[in-house]
This record gives sequence, C-alpha cells and structure tokens, in this order.
Amino acid sequence: MSELVLTSTAGDIGIITVNNPPVNALSPAVAEALRQAVQQFVADPSVRGLVLIGAGRTFIAGADIKEFAKVTATTRDFETGIDPLLAALEDSPKPVVCAIHGTALGGGLETAMACHYRIATPDAQLGQPEVKIGLIPGAGGTQRLPRLVGVAKALEMCAGGEPIRAPDALACGLLDALAEGELLPAALAYCHKCLAAGTPPRRTRDLHDKLGTPAVNAPLLAFARAQAQKRAKHLIAPAKAIDAVEAATTLPFAEGCARERQLFLECLFSDQAKALIHVFLAEREAAKVPGVGPDTPRRPIRRAAIVGAGTMGCGIAMVYANAGIPVWLQDVDAAALERGMATIRKNYATTVQKGKLTPQQRDERLARIEPTHRYERFAEADIVVEAVFENLALKKQVFAELDQVAHPEAILATNTSSLSIDAIAAATRRPQQVIGHHFFSPAHVMKLLEIVRGKETSLSVVATSIDLAKRLGKVGVVVGNCRAFVGNRMFEPYVREAQFLLEEGATIDQVDGALTEFGLAMGPLAVLDLAGLDIGWRMRQEQPPPVTGRKPFLAEDQLCAHGQFGQKTGAGWYRYGADRVGTPNPDAIRFVAEAARANGITPRAITAQEIVERTIFALINEGARILEEGIALRPGDIDIISIYGYGFPAWRGGPLWYADTLGLRTVYERISAFEKQHGAWWSPAPLLQRLASAGRTFASLTATPA
Ligand code: NAI
Repeated sequence: MSELVLTSTAGDIGIITVNNPPVNALSPAVAEALRQAVQQFVADPSVRGLVLIGAGRTFIAGADIKEFAKVTATTRDFETGIDPLLAALEDSPKPVVCAIHGTALGGGLETAMACHYRIATPDAQLGQPEVKIGLIPGAGGTQRLPRLVGVAKALEMCAGGEPIRAPDALACGLLDALAEGELLPAALAYCHKCLAAGTPPRRTRDLHDKLGTPAVNAPLLAFARAQAQKRAKHLIAPAKAIDAVEAATTLPFAEGCARERQLFLECLFSDQAKALIHVFLAEREAAKVPGVGPDTPRRPIRRAAIVGAGTMGCGIAMVYANAGIPVWLQDVDAAALERGMATIRKNYATTVQKGKLTPQQRDERLARIEPTHRYERFAEADIVVEAVFENLALKKQVFAELDQVAHPEAILATNTSSLSIDAIAAATRRPQQVIGHHFFSPAHVMKLLEIVRGKETSLSVVATSIDLAKRLGKVGVVVGNCRAFVGNRMFEPYVREAQFLLEEGATIDQVDGALTEFGLAMGPLAVLDLAGLDIGWRMRQEQPPPVTGRKPFLAEDQLCAHGQFGQKTGAGWYRYGADRVGTPNPDAIRFVAEAARANGITPRAITAQEIVERTIFALINEGARILEEGIALRPGDIDIISIYGYGFPAWRGGPLWYADTLGLRTVYERISAFEKQHGAWWSPAPLLQRLASAGRTFASLTATPA
C-alpha cells in the first residue's frame, strides 16, 4: 500500500491515516489508497470498526486545485476518483468514525460526510468553499450536507462558501461530538461506543428527517437565490450550488448526485471557474520571488513604529495591532495624532458593534498602539513604516532622521504611492534596508500590499516583507521601483480614459455604470471620490502625469480648486447625502462641459462597450509595459494587484487573464484602432504586439511545462 495512506490497529479498531503533507490534499492517488485501506479493514474479521484521521496539521483540506487547472486545459470530462472511496466508506458494514482536526474542506468534508460518524477538535473548521473558485461540491456534498444539517444551513455553506467552526458544526448536526482531549483516543472511544450500542452504521445518504417539505423549502431556496444575486450577481457557481441542494430535496440520493455532477461539470468548464482557479493559484505564486528561498535570512518583527498618523498611518497601525505586533504611532502634529487615535478607537468600536470583535479583543488591540510625538524608543522597533505626506523632500528628511534613530538592523519601509524608493533610500546610510510597503486605503480592510523593491533592497528585507505580509493578513506582491509602481501606474491611464470619455460626452453615471456592470466593485469616478481627489491633485503637482499629446482635461483640478475632494468634503464627482449615497454633482457636470468646450470637443453618444474597452484596454496595455519592463514578475501578479487593490472582478481573472480570454489579437487591434482615432498615447505595448502576432497569451509567458 502507498505511503500516502497509513493503516494500523488499536485492538479491534482499524485506523486509516491520510498522509499527504502539507494539507492532505485528496488527489486521485490518495482517494484510491484510502479506498483500498477501507476494503482491507472491511475484509479483516479481527477489525470491528474504523477510524479515519489525518496526519500532520490537518484532516483533508480539499482537492488538489492544480489538478482542476490541468483538467480544464486538456479535457472536457473529469473523474474526481473520490466516488468509489465515498461509496466504500458509506457501504462499510462496520462503523466508520471520521476524526477531524485543522480543516475539512471541499472533498475533505465530502469524505467526512460519507463516514458514519464525525468527531472533531474544538478548533477545527468545516466547509464547502468550492464556490470561491467557481465550482460546486462535486462528490455528493450538496446531497449529504442537507441530510445532516438541514436545507437552510446547507444552502448557506454551499452557496456562501464560508467554513464553520466545530462548535457550530456540532450544534447543526454536522458533527456528532467534540474531542475533549486528544483526537485519536476520543475517536476510538466513540467507535467503541457505537459498537457497544449495537445499532447498524448510520449512513448519511439514508437520512431524510432534515430534508423538509417542498412548502418549507420553497422560501428557503428563494431567499438563498436572492442573497446570492445580491452578494455576487455575476457569479454562476452559487446559483448552481443552490440548484444542487434543491435536487437533494426533490430527487432520490443517487439521482441527486447525478444532477450535482452535471452542475459541477458545467461550472468546471466555465470561464469563471478557470479565471477563479487562476486567481487562486496566482495568489500563491505571488509569494515566490527568484533568489528568495527558505534559507534566505529573515529578521524577526516583534515591534513596529509608524511615522505619520493620517489616513494611512492609522490604518497601518491597526493592521499591525490586529496581527499582535505592538506599534508606536508618531506624528509631529499633536492635533493630527489626537484625531488619528480617535479614528482608530471609532473603527474598533464599529467592529465591536458589528459583533466581529469582542470588547476584550478591542482593548488588547488598542493597548498595542501607543501614540507619541517623538522618535524616542524607535531604536527598539524592528521595522519603521513611514506614512507622511506624499512629498519627496519631506520623505527624504524623515528617512535621514530615521536612519539616525532606528536600530541599525531595522527595516525602513515607506508607504509612498508613487515616489522613487531609490531616491528615498539614498537619504539613508542603509539603502539595502529600505523598501516600499504600499498599503491600500483603508489599510486595515484592503488585502493588497505592494512590496516595492529598490535597486539596493536586500533579499533578506524582501523575504522578511513577504512573510510579514502574510502575518499581517495581506496578499503581498513584490514589484519593482518605477513611478507609481504597478497598481497606481495602471490606474492612471484607466482613470485618464474614464475622464476623456466624460469630456467626449459620456455621463458620470454612464462611465461608472458600465464598469460596475462589467464587474468592478466600484466605478473609477466613485473610487476617486472615495480616495480623495486631492491625492491625485497633489501627485500631479509633485510629478506631472505622462504626456498624452491631447490637451489635458481639467475638470477634476477645477473640482479640487473649489475644495471638492470627494466623499470627505461631501462632493466630488458625486454629491453625497447624509447616507453617503452619491448623485452626480452638478458642479462636476458643469466643469466637464466647460473643459470640453475649452478643448473644442463636441459631445457625442458613447456606448457602454466603448467605455469598457477604452478603460480596461488602457489597463491591459499598461500592464503589458509593466511586464516587459520587469516591474512585475508575472502576469498573474498584475492580476492579483488589480483584484485585491482595485476591485477588478476576480471571476474575470484580472486584466491580463481577461485579455487572454478575449484573444490578444483582438485586444491589439482595438488598441491600434484607438491609437489611430485618438492619438499616440494609445500606441500598443511592444510585448502585446509580439504576443498577438505570435498567437500567444500572457499566461504562456509563465506556463510551466506539464
Ligand atoms: P495624510 O495627509 O492623511 O497623513 C499624513 C500625516 O503625516 C499627517 O497626519 C501629518 O501630520 C503627518 N506628518 C507630516 N509630516 C510629518 C513628519 N515630519 N513626521 C511625522 N508626521 C508627519 O496622508 P495619507 O493619505 O495617510 O498618506 C500618507 C502616505 O501614504 C502618502 O505617501 C500617500 O501617498 C500614501 N498613500 C495614501 C493612500 C490613500 O489612499 N490615502 C493609499 C496608499 C498610500
């Protein structure tokens, strides 16, 4: 028998241990080895009961997602290899107890549900997260779960994808017991108890009492469909998961499983699943940087200090405090520091109100943030994060000061959103320890951290930053140093086109509406209002944007000149009521018309398609340049940045993945047409041109041979 699965006995109980580190992924080979182990114990007369358990840090945490990617690239059908295993477990005439620690997710939970009884450690998590990668459970999950936990809970778990904790799982019937002490002895004791009771094994597929009646289920199903539509109207998998759970209530078990399989395959071969699987894998890939390995030395980060208690400094302080790292929050302006601490307290209070934090947790986190006006004790910090105004002279001055006061080994990070890391590093005697940690606003909410590497930044500092990002709950992506790095550099032409479209006659609603309909979390104009129009305004004063050859469109500068900075001043592109709902700002409409007249542009009718192409293709074209310059390591990194930093729809896979799905030739031809129509700033990126003419994709640049 393969070492992927180990068998042993404890008296008359056979123990089957999944042994596929690190997460006991349920590959076809593991499933087959498990099936053989079950068969062996069922045939062994000295064995009366079975326990299934995982080795290492977890039970089966799911299927091997790389397998899905391979399958969809090569075939049109898919056998998980799990079905024979599940049948063997459920058919066993001897009771099978599943012992769960860590996580039982996806195929892991489906395996657990095919066992007769389930026991788990109190900190275990159980879930069917398939919808997050555009799939639904494909091995009976949607049929067994409602039989154990009822239709309402099964709908929530299969269509929402969030795992539940062991105590909740016990309360809803997914678990039979929690292990008080060690898991294996508890599972063995549970198995003995079942044997002593002498009742036949309880097979999930034969349970019916929680399936409900059509009259009871109809409103539950309708509610779940409405919720799914509201949460993510573009996604197809949640609706299919609901259809599959419904099948459990209307069809016999075997037919329900057949229906589930059909729905699963529809999802598996959909563009959405391919895109979401790409995002899942790209996110993991992003943490890998050439030259950085397990042996690269890391510095321990025990204490942090933050300079500047404005919007970003406060958010970053919360990020550290939330991760259990104490921070000093420093600002030269006493009123700003006071305001900053008040904002932090208010943010935590809101989280407590929402029930997402206990008052005790809030107090612990607040206690980790210590406001200060001076750099005293900064020498004790392992990292200092600078978040003062976006002004190069000021940042250089701050870094020169930090160089004097910080511990010689400490990392000096800047949260600049556009300035040169090298220029800032040059103000210190330790450029190798200077790096960009570009958080996104609000820092304690947004998942992205751009880790910007200067030309002298050491690998050790890069490695420490990657690990730190994870510890801070962020998705860290390492990028090179250039004006505005990856995310903001791409955002610039995207916003430029959005505004040129206004100048050419599109309305504010039309521009944002076309892009939210495309799937973006917010339209570009609403995003600008949220971030504050003054940020771009100051940036433009500090460093003028690249020349386009077209007369600049000055409506936004006009808004700023009139103190209309967006949400924070109650008006920007939109005007905001007390409920923060915006309606197009009449002043903005007037400034647009005036600016267009001044530039001699006559308004014309503009379609949603043109809005999407002009803005999204601008992103793609800039992305291609960034890739060619080596500022981003891989197309997937650009996709991850756009998704986690800018709300690009994950189900479209990110801008470069999306370009691949359209075909690079199509994208190239449209961009060339825009160049002819609008001007030289639309010249296609050379990399795009080369890939298009070779019939290749961005993905092919990083594809590893199978
Ligand atoms: P802000 O204007 O809200 O806060 C800046 C703070 O720095 C102020 O409280 C000011 O009193 C303080 N400060 C100024 N000089 C100082 C000094 N010498 N020592 C200590 N404190 C000093 O600015 P915000 O928006 O927080 O931006 C900070 C940095 O983060 C900028 O570099 C910005 O480009 C960057 N950033 C901003 C984002 C945003 O959406 N606001 C997003 C990502 C990065």
